Amino acid sequence: MSSETAKPASASCVSLAIMTHPGQANPYGTLHGGVLLRLADECGALAALRHAGGSGGMINTVAIDSMTFLSPVYVGERVELCAEVTYVGRTSVESRIEIFAEPLDRAERRRVAVGYGLYVALDEHGRPRPVPGLLSETEADRLRDEAARARQAVRLARRDEARALSDPGDGRR
Ligand SMILES: CC(C)(COP(=O)(O)OP(=O)(O)OC[C@H]1O[C@@H](n2cnc3c(N)ncnc32)[C@H](O)[C@@H]1OP(=O)(O)O)[C@@H](O)C(=O)NCCC(=O)NCCS
Repeated sequence: MSSETAKPASASCVSLAIMTHPGQANPYGTLHGGVLLRLADECGALAALRHAGGSGGMINTVAIDSMTFLSPVYVGERVELCAEVTYVGRTSVESRIEIFAEPLDRAERRRVAVGYGLYVALDEHGRPRPVPGLLSETEADRLRDEAARARQAVRLARRDEARALSDPGDGRR
Protein backbone atom coordinates (compact mmCIF):
# COMPACT_ATOMS: atom_id res chain seq x y z
CA MET A 1 0.00 0.00 0.00
CA SER A 2 1.43 3.44 -0.88
CA SER A 3 1.42 6.48 1.39
CA GLU A 4 -1.02 8.06 -1.11
CA THR A 5 -4.38 8.82 0.56
CA ALA A 6 -6.65 5.81 0.89
CA LYS A 7 -9.65 5.78 -1.44
CA PRO A 8 -13.25 4.64 -0.87
CA ALA A 9 -14.61 1.77 -2.97
CA SER A 10 -17.14 4.18 -4.47
CA ALA A 11 -14.30 6.05 -6.22
CA SER A 12 -13.53 3.11 -8.49
CA CYS A 13 -17.00 1.73 -9.31
CA VAL A 14 -17.25 1.12 -13.04
CA SER A 15 -19.78 -0.39 -15.45
CA LEU A 16 -19.75 -1.76 -18.98
CA ALA A 17 -22.71 -2.66 -21.19
CA ILE A 18 -23.03 -4.57 -24.46
CA MET A 19 -25.75 -5.94 -26.72
CA THR A 20 -25.24 -9.68 -27.28
CA HIS A 21 -25.37 -11.23 -30.77
CA PRO A 22 -25.63 -14.73 -32.34
CA GLY A 23 -21.84 -15.00 -32.84
CA GLN A 24 -21.51 -15.18 -29.05
CA ALA A 25 -23.88 -18.14 -28.60
CA ASN A 26 -22.99 -21.66 -27.45
CA PRO A 27 -24.44 -24.72 -29.27
CA TYR A 28 -27.57 -24.47 -27.08
CA GLY A 29 -28.37 -20.95 -28.24
CA THR A 30 -27.60 -19.12 -25.02
CA LEU A 31 -24.59 -16.88 -24.42
CA HIS A 32 -21.20 -18.64 -24.16
CA GLY A 33 -19.88 -18.35 -20.59
CA GLY A 34 -16.46 -17.40 -21.93
CA VAL A 35 -17.91 -14.18 -23.38
CA LEU A 36 -19.05 -13.18 -19.90
CA LEU A 37 -15.72 -14.18 -18.35
CA ARG A 38 -13.80 -11.96 -20.74
CA LEU A 39 -16.09 -8.99 -20.06
CA ALA A 40 -15.90 -9.69 -16.32
CA ASP A 41 -12.10 -9.61 -16.44
CA GLU A 42 -12.14 -6.34 -18.37
CA CYS A 43 -14.65 -4.68 -16.05
CA GLY A 44 -12.85 -5.87 -12.90
CA ALA A 45 -9.53 -4.63 -14.30
CA LEU A 46 -11.03 -1.21 -15.02
CA ALA A 47 -12.15 -0.81 -11.40
CA ALA A 48 -8.73 -1.98 -10.15
CA LEU A 49 -6.97 0.41 -12.51
CA ARG A 50 -9.12 3.31 -11.34
CA HIS A 51 -8.21 2.49 -7.76
CA ALA A 52 -4.50 1.99 -8.47
CA GLY A 53 -4.26 5.23 -10.45
CA GLY A 54 -0.90 6.33 -11.80
CA SER A 55 -0.65 7.91 -15.22
CA GLY A 56 -0.22 5.26 -17.89
CA GLY A 57 -0.47 2.66 -15.12
CA MET A 58 -0.73 -0.99 -16.06
CA ILE A 59 -2.66 -3.74 -14.36
CA ASN A 60 -2.27 -7.51 -14.69
CA THR A 61 -4.88 -10.18 -13.90
CA VAL A 62 -3.54 -12.87 -11.58
CA ALA A 63 -6.81 -14.62 -10.66
CA ILE A 64 -10.48 -14.72 -11.60
CA ASP A 65 -12.34 -16.78 -9.05
CA SER A 66 -15.68 -17.71 -7.56
CA MET A 67 -17.47 -16.75 -10.80
CA THR A 68 -20.92 -18.16 -10.18
CA PHE A 69 -23.47 -18.22 -13.00
CA LEU A 70 -27.00 -17.86 -11.65
CA SER A 71 -29.06 -17.98 -14.85
CA PRO A 72 -28.53 -18.15 -18.63
CA VAL A 73 -28.23 -15.08 -20.84
CA TYR A 74 -30.24 -15.19 -24.07
CA VAL A 75 -28.77 -13.98 -27.32
CA GLY A 76 -30.02 -10.50 -28.12
CA GLU A 77 -30.20 -9.41 -24.49
CA ARG A 78 -28.40 -6.38 -23.10
CA VAL A 79 -25.66 -7.35 -20.66
CA GLU A 80 -24.34 -4.96 -18.05
CA LEU A 81 -21.36 -5.48 -15.74
CA CYS A 82 -20.56 -3.51 -12.59
CA ALA A 83 -17.27 -3.79 -10.70
CA GLU A 84 -16.21 -2.38 -7.35
CA VAL A 85 -12.95 -2.70 -5.40
CA THR A 86 -13.39 -4.95 -2.36
CA TYR A 87 -9.80 -5.50 -1.17
CA VAL A 88 -6.39 -3.91 -1.49
CA GLY A 89 -3.06 -5.42 -0.46
CA ARG A 90 0.32 -3.77 -0.99
CA THR A 91 0.33 -4.06 -4.79
CA SER A 92 -2.81 -6.12 -5.44
CA VAL A 93 -6.44 -5.04 -5.86
CA GLU A 94 -9.54 -7.24 -5.77
CA SER A 95 -12.73 -6.29 -7.66
CA ARG A 96 -16.16 -7.81 -7.18
CA ILE A 97 -17.85 -8.15 -10.55
CA GLU A 98 -21.62 -8.44 -10.92
CA ILE A 99 -23.25 -9.27 -14.24
CA PHE A 100 -26.84 -8.39 -15.16
CA ALA A 101 -28.95 -9.17 -18.23
CA GLU A 102 -32.22 -7.76 -19.54
CA PRO A 103 -34.39 -8.09 -22.66
CA LEU A 104 -33.97 -5.17 -25.07
CA ASP A 105 -37.63 -4.16 -24.91
CA ARG A 106 -38.17 -4.23 -21.13
CA ALA A 107 -36.36 -2.80 -18.12
CA GLU A 108 -36.35 -6.17 -16.32
CA ARG A 109 -32.78 -6.50 -15.14
CA ARG A 110 -31.76 -9.75 -13.45
CA ARG A 111 -28.44 -10.71 -11.82
CA VAL A 112 -26.90 -13.55 -13.86
CA ALA A 113 -23.40 -13.92 -12.37
CA VAL A 114 -21.12 -12.74 -9.58
CA GLY A 115 -17.38 -13.25 -9.13
CA TYR A 116 -14.04 -11.72 -8.16
CA GLY A 117 -10.90 -10.68 -10.02
CA LEU A 118 -7.49 -10.10 -8.44
CA TYR A 119 -5.19 -7.66 -10.22
CA VAL A 120 -1.64 -6.47 -9.62
CA ALA A 121 -0.58 -2.90 -10.41
CA LEU A 122 2.64 -2.78 -12.40
CA ASP A 123 5.30 -0.11 -12.88
CA GLU A 124 7.03 0.74 -16.16
CA HIS A 125 9.36 -2.26 -15.70
CA GLY A 126 6.45 -4.66 -15.31
CA ARG A 127 7.12 -5.10 -11.57
CA PRO A 128 4.42 -4.80 -8.87
CA ARG A 129 3.95 -1.24 -7.61
CA PRO A 130 2.28 -0.05 -4.38
CA VAL A 131 -1.33 1.10 -4.59
CA PRO A 132 -3.42 3.40 -2.37
CA GLY A 133 -5.24 1.77 0.54
CA LEU A 134 -8.99 1.07 0.59
CA LEU A 135 -10.97 3.20 3.05
CA SER A 136 -12.76 1.17 5.68
CA GLU A 137 -15.10 3.23 7.80
CA THR A 138 -18.27 1.33 8.56
CA GLU A 139 -19.19 -2.04 10.02
CA ALA A 140 -20.14 -3.15 6.49
CA ASP A 141 -16.63 -2.17 5.31
CA ARG A 142 -15.09 -4.17 8.16
CA LEU A 143 -17.10 -7.27 7.19
CA ARG A 144 -16.15 -6.73 3.52
CA ASP A 145 -12.45 -6.57 4.50
CA GLU A 146 -12.64 -9.72 6.60
CA ALA A 147 -14.33 -11.73 3.83
CA ALA A 148 -11.84 -10.41 1.27
CA ARG A 149 -8.82 -11.39 3.39
CA ALA A 150 -10.22 -14.92 3.59
CA ARG A 151 -10.64 -15.07 -0.23
CA GLN A 152 -7.10 -13.79 -0.75
CA ALA A 153 -5.70 -16.44 1.63
CA VAL A 154 -7.45 -19.14 -0.43
CA ARG A 155 -6.01 -17.68 -3.67
CA LEU A 156 -2.48 -17.66 -2.28
CA ALA A 157 -2.87 -21.29 -1.23
CA ARG A 158 -4.07 -22.11 -4.79
CA ARG A 159 -1.10 -20.25 -6.26
CA ASP A 160 1.29 -22.34 -4.13
CA GLU A 161 -0.51 -25.47 -5.27
CA ALA A 162 -0.31 -24.43 -8.95
CA ARG A 163 3.40 -23.64 -8.62
CA ALA A 164 4.06 -27.02 -7.02
CA LEU A 165 2.17 -28.72 -9.90
CA SER A 166 4.15 -26.92 -12.60
CA ASP A 167 7.46 -27.68 -10.90
CA PRO A 168 7.55 -31.33 -9.80
CA GLY A 169 11.20 -30.83 -8.80
CA ASP A 170 12.47 -33.95 -10.58
CA GLY A 171 13.17 -32.45 -14.00
CA ARG A 172 9.79 -33.55 -15.46
CA ARG A 173 7.37 -31.03 -16.99
C1 LIG B 1 1.76 -9.98 -11.79
C2 LIG B 1 3.18 -10.50 -11.58
C3 LIG B 1 4.15 -9.71 -12.47
C4 LIG B 1 3.53 -10.25 -10.11
O1 LIG B 1 4.83 -10.74 -9.88
P1 LIG B 1 5.12 -11.65 -8.62
O2 LIG B 1 6.53 -12.07 -8.67
O3 LIG B 1 4.06 -12.69 -8.53
O4 LIG B 1 4.99 -10.58 -7.47
P2 LIG B 1 4.53 -10.81 -5.98
O5 LIG B 1 4.75 -12.21 -5.51
O6 LIG B 1 5.17 -9.67 -5.21
O7 LIG B 1 2.95 -10.58 -6.03
C5 LIG B 1 2.43 -9.28 -6.19
C6 LIG B 1 1.10 -9.24 -5.47
O8 LIG B 1 0.18 -10.08 -6.14
C7 LIG B 1 -0.34 -11.05 -5.26
N1 LIG B 1 -0.50 -12.27 -6.05
C8 LIG B 1 0.30 -12.70 -7.05
N2 LIG B 1 -0.21 -13.84 -7.58
C9 LIG B 1 -1.35 -14.09 -6.91
C10 LIG B 1 -2.34 -15.10 -7.00
N3 LIG B 1 -2.27 -16.10 -7.88
N4 LIG B 1 -3.39 -15.04 -6.16
C11 LIG B 1 -3.49 -14.04 -5.26
N5 LIG B 1 -2.59 -13.06 -5.13
C12 LIG B 1 -1.53 -13.08 -5.95
C13 LIG B 1 0.69 -11.17 -4.15
O9 LIG B 1 0.09 -11.65 -2.95
C14 LIG B 1 1.14 -9.72 -4.04
O10 LIG B 1 0.12 -9.01 -3.34
P3 LIG B 1 0.42 -7.76 -2.34
O11 LIG B 1 1.60 -7.00 -2.87
O12 LIG B 1 -0.81 -6.96 -2.38
O13 LIG B 1 0.70 -8.38 -1.00
C15 LIG B 1 3.29 -12.01 -11.86
O14 LIG B 1 2.60 -12.74 -10.87
C16 LIG B 1 2.75 -12.39 -13.22
O15 LIG B 1 3.25 -11.97 -14.25
N6 LIG B 1 1.69 -13.23 -13.22
C17 LIG B 1 1.06 -13.64 -14.45
C18 LIG B 1 -0.06 -12.68 -14.78
C19 LIG B 1 -0.55 -12.81 -16.21
O16 LIG B 1 0.16 -13.21 -17.11
N7 LIG B 1 -1.80 -12.45 -16.41
C20 LIG B 1 -2.43 -12.44 -17.70
C21 LIG B 1 -3.23 -13.67 -17.87
S1 LIG B 1 -3.68 -13.86 -19.57
